[in-house]
Amino acid sequence: MQLVNLGLVGGGTVGGGVWTALARNGALMAARLGVDLQIVRVAVRDLKKPRSVAFPDKIVTDDWRSVVRDPSVHVVLELMGGTTTAREVVLEALRLGKPVVTANKALLSRHGEELFAASAKHSTNLYYEASVAGGIPIIKILRESLAGNRITQIAGIVNGTCNYILTRMKLEGADLATVLADAQRLGYAEAEPSLDIDGHDAAQKTGILASLAHGFWVKPEFIPTEGIRNISPLDIQFAQRLGYTIKLLGMVKEVVRGTGAKKGLRSIQVAVYPALVPNGHVLASVNHAYNAIAVRGDVVGETLFYGRGAGSDATASSVLSDVADAALDLKHGSNRRVPPFVSHTVRGSIFPISEVVSPYYIRLMVVDRPGVFARIATLLARAKIGISTIIQPEGHAGEVVPVILMLHDATHAAMQKVLGQIAKLPLVKASPVLIRVEPFE
Ligand SMILES: NC(=O)c1ccc[n+]([C@@H]2O[C@H](COP(=O)([O-])OP(=O)(O)OC[C@H]3O[C@@H](n4cnc5c(N)ncnc54)[C@H](OP(=O)(O)O)[C@@H]3O)[C@@H](O)[C@H]2O)c1
Repeated sequence: MQLVNLGLVGGGTVGGGVWTALARNGALMAARLGVDLQIVRVAVRDLKKPRSVAFPDKIVTDDWRSVVRDPSVHVVLELMGGTTTAREVVLEALRLGKPVVTANKALLSRHGEELFAASAKHSTNLYYEASVAGGIPIIKILRESLAGNRITQIAGIVNGTCNYILTRMKLEGADLATVLADAQRLGYAEAEPSLDIDGHDAAQKTGILASLAHGFWVKPEFIPTEGIRNISPLDIQFAQRLGYTIKLLGMVKEVVRGTGAKKGLRSIQVAVYPALVPNGHVLASVNHAYNAIAVRGDVVGETLFYGRGAGSDATASSVLSDVADAALDLKHGSNRRVPPFVSHTVRGSIFPISEVVSPYYIRLMVVDRPGVFARIATLLARAKIGISTIIQPEGHAGEVVPVILMLHDATHAAMQKVLGQIAKLPLVKASPVLIRVEPFE
């Protein structure tokens, strides 16, 4: 049986998970693939650090180059994280013609174009299943299984930390700060939570999915990103009364626009934002740290992929799926059987967020006095934005009370403009809260 040797750069949560999973299922994989997989080298940063996985001393080093350059290593697994040394690791392995498996969304997001170009130049492959949504095999789905489809929409819950926080806020009525502190104590959230809470991690993953689905590289700086920092238990409760659940979504939508010669010009809307998801839609029921991605293809229709978005085992499962592909490439001498990045020629562009149309939820804190609502309604009517539902809880005269408005379709630009006008009304006492509604029609 063919032997394929693996060199790990990184022996932490994911690297340890890969070691353990291969020890458990290596024989099963060998029987399935006809390839015997062995981890022959592991690079870590600190040789003295206590580890839950006991790598044999003789295979561990703190010199990553010695792993990548070891002639007996056939496939390099970059499982260290970060974007500086990790970039060097991947480029060096590709330069040597070795297939690379990475779990590193930050690296791909920042240097993806360069790394994919290097893999093409050196006629080898770059695999990255674990970079998006942990154990869910979404990269393979887009790269291979849905190859016969135009992808018209992707809607993803791709950040487990935010989903965990939003789920607990909904179930317990707790505020974000309390749940976040708890999540940090339990290890579900980082001490510095901004990457998750402010949507940047979701934007990196959404950008990778958008690029893969549409064939041109979507840089994170072009992705309008809004996190969950301003979501309050009040909005979660009102959303629930209206039949919705608030989720942080990574959205990729195809928009066909243009007339005459420009007819059919393809543009994609890519954004990360909290949204009201109808309770009847499956994404509303994805709870705690789970991830889910709904993909709509023009041939297949609606599909849904659900699973654990992080963690040692789930992520190792995705890494091993890439290892299997890389090993089969080597076995059959087909080093780029599946292109790492669908680089067909597409005339595409990112649709400006200001022109994106959607229904909206707004919450205003207003002084409970006759005539307040008429002033707000007049401003909305002037902006040609229709109101579908109003919730105005009873208060006492002069008290500040919340007013909830569900609004019909409006562009983001029109909503921002009218909201600025509403915020200036003397009877409006706090910054208005604006959340998109994602009807999934
Ligand atoms: N954890 C997850 O659930 C998850 C899920 C999906 C994707 N990922 C991605 O997987 C990657 C690894 O994450 P992780 O959670 O496994 O991180 P981790 O637990 O911090 O492990 C990182 C490993 O890299 C090693 N390392 C760091 N710098 C090094 C250097 N210069 N030379 C050699 N080794 C070095 C560390 O060595 P020491 O052990 O000596 O410190 C450690 O073993 C990241 O890109 C992450 O985004 C993680």
